[in-house]
Amino acid sequence: MRIAVATPTGAAYDLVLLAHILLALLAIAVIAVGVTQALALRRSGDPSEEARRYYNGKINLVGRMIHLLPVTGALLVAMSRSAYAFSQLWIGIGLLGWLLASLGMEALCWPAERQLASVLGDTELRGPLARRALLGQTVAATALIGAAVVMLIQPGA
Ligand code: HEM
Repeated sequence: MRIAVATPTGAAYDLVLLAHILLALLAIAVIAVGVTQALALRRSGDPSEEARRYYNGKINLVGRMIHLLPVTGALLVAMSRSAYAFSQLWIGIGLLGWLLASLGMEALCWPAERQLASVLGDTELRGPLARRALLGQTVAATALIGAAVVMLIQPGA
């Protein structure tokens, strides 16, 4: 028997939900900007001013906001008064999506982007690094978009 549980409401819950959704959109936007830059680098020729600004060798702090997704997600679960639980399939898939996306960015994309800063002018050296960044971005974008769709449909809720 399924027991119906009311969808959680309240100003505080709505604010955390809004933050959670904005973080998801920000993560996808950060990846989209990175993909545009990596694709441009695969063309031969001197890197643009924009590329030099993007590949500055610094840590991508805005991108690291992706790590707040599970924090706000866990807050939503905690504030939902048992309407949602980590044992639910869609929550588990969301967590897995975030894990895959973080791995793609932390293990592949961001290390390659940092190395690119010092070899930007070298078409031969930058090619494989741009491809590695793109691979990480593709894994992350697929996982995040998949997780967002699952969060919207909430299978097994
Ligand atoms: C990391 C673990 C995650 C947890 C524990 C989690 C948890 C939740 C919870 C409890 C809700 C509230 C649903 C509602 O009140 O209707 C929610 C909504 C949402 N989540 Fe997550 N989430 C996680 C990851 C993600 C990821 C990776 C994405 C996509 C990038 C995402 C995108 C969304 C979206 C778009 C909604 C709004 C759905 C709606 O209002 O119908 N979440 N999440």
